[in-house]
Amino acid sequence: MNIAEIRQLIRMKPVERDIVKRRLGRCYSVADLRRSAKLLIPRPVFDYVDGAADDELSMAGNLRAFRRWQFRPNELVDVARIDTSTQVLGRTHSLPLGMAPTGYSRMMHPDGEIAVARAAGRRNLPYTLSTMGTTSIEDLATAAQATGQDDLWFQLYMLKDRALTQELVQRAATSGFRVLVVTVDTTVTGFRIRDEHNGLVIPPELTVSTIASIGSRPAYWMRMLRNPAITFANLPPDFQSGTVASGVAKFSPTITPDDIAVLRAHWPGKLIVKGPLGAADAQRAIEAGADGVQLSNHGGRQLDRAIAPIDLVAEVREALGDGPCVLVDSGIRHGADLAVAMALGADAGMIGRSYLYGLMAGGEPGVDRVLDLLADQFTRTMQLLGVTSVAELRKHGRELLTRP
Ligand SMILES: Cc1cc2nc3c(=O)[nH]c(=O)nc-3n(C[C@H](O)[C@H](O)[C@H](O)COP(=O)(O)O)c2cc1C
Repeated sequence: MNIAEIRQLIRMKPVERDIVKRRLGRCYSVADLRRSAKLLIPRPVFDYVDGAADDELSMAGNLRAFRRWQFRPNELVDVARIDTSTQVLGRTHSLPLGMAPTGYSRMMHPDGEIAVARAAGRRNLPYTLSTMGTTSIEDLATAAQATGQDDLWFQLYMLKDRALTQELVQRAATSGFRVLVVTVDTTVTGFRIRDEHNGLVIPPELTVSTIASIGSRPAYWMRMLRNPAITFANLPPDFQSGTVASGVAKFSPTITPDDIAVLRAHWPGKLIVKGPLGAADAQRAIEAGADGVQLSNHGGRQLDRAIAPIDLVAEVREALGDGPCVLVDSGIRHGADLAVAMALGADAGMIGRSYLYGLMAGGEPGVDRVLDLLADQFTRTMQLLGVTSVAELRKHGRELLTRP
């Protein structure tokens, strides 16, 4: 049998010549993208993203908490057409999903924050820029808005320097950011043991192990060397070098509801408090003027042994009623996790590591890949659950869930 005869029997699959597309095409889950990122990115950077505080019990608990829920689907329902769109803080999004703030994104890939904001914008999803972002408020707004991303949120760490804090808020308002997300769980930094072992400093310093990692991850270092140096693009020179902990030492350990009320008085848009872990704190945030809360344990990076935020959604929704926005993050790795969050009463789920694994595995196309996977998974989960809209999922969700 010759080649021509064999060809008649089997259809030859076209070879993808673009190495990044080929790699991403072989990733069918967030876990696949994580594995791919681990092979490509120097260990200190991968561990900075992948790691958490102390014994990493909160992080493991976050993943477990989502997966403990089991579905009781409805059958005999026409699910040929379903609607995955939903409203968050007065804006319609294609999915109940948003990008949580993550610092240092240009350390994962030089396209960093802009890549993530654009990929989210293409799908009509919001992007939150961190105070510790490595792209300036103004550059992010210009680049993202040019590609149609018009739902930018700004995450604020209250700094000891209140005048500087106020200046950041003012700059975000001037640049057209719609939502201010005030993080309240980082009064001191969580202790990240992987970063200590790896001697992580920002910007990365040349040490024996960095030089070794240049040998084993040359593509990463070539990309980094060809692009402008990483800085905390929104902060003054005294923030520009050191460990994660030395940066956080400049954050305010004295945030109270009065601070939220002051921000509320100055901020023209919507305001979310990120980090409450219970109904009482959520209520205090709303009483101080917030439009909603983002239930979060910072992906397990702050207080270890903290309760998993997904386990608080139902009680917080009950305490706050239908009015305020309830977002949840920490542990979302699959579209089915989003379905669980909606069924328990959240308005949307926010992701951190999931999009960073995509960014590390393939830059902006890697983020596209993660968002496509999550969208497909969420859509399929809704169809297999027998629900045709997010509103229905939220209304009847509790009947679709059970926990052994
Ligand atoms: C690498 C990394 C950096 C982060 N930086 C910030 C930050 O600057 N500000 C903030 O409020 N949260 C930050 N977070 C927390 C995320 O906003 C979010 O709460 C968390 O990632 C959610 O958990 P998940 O990673 O399991 O999705 C960061 C998380 C990661 C993984």
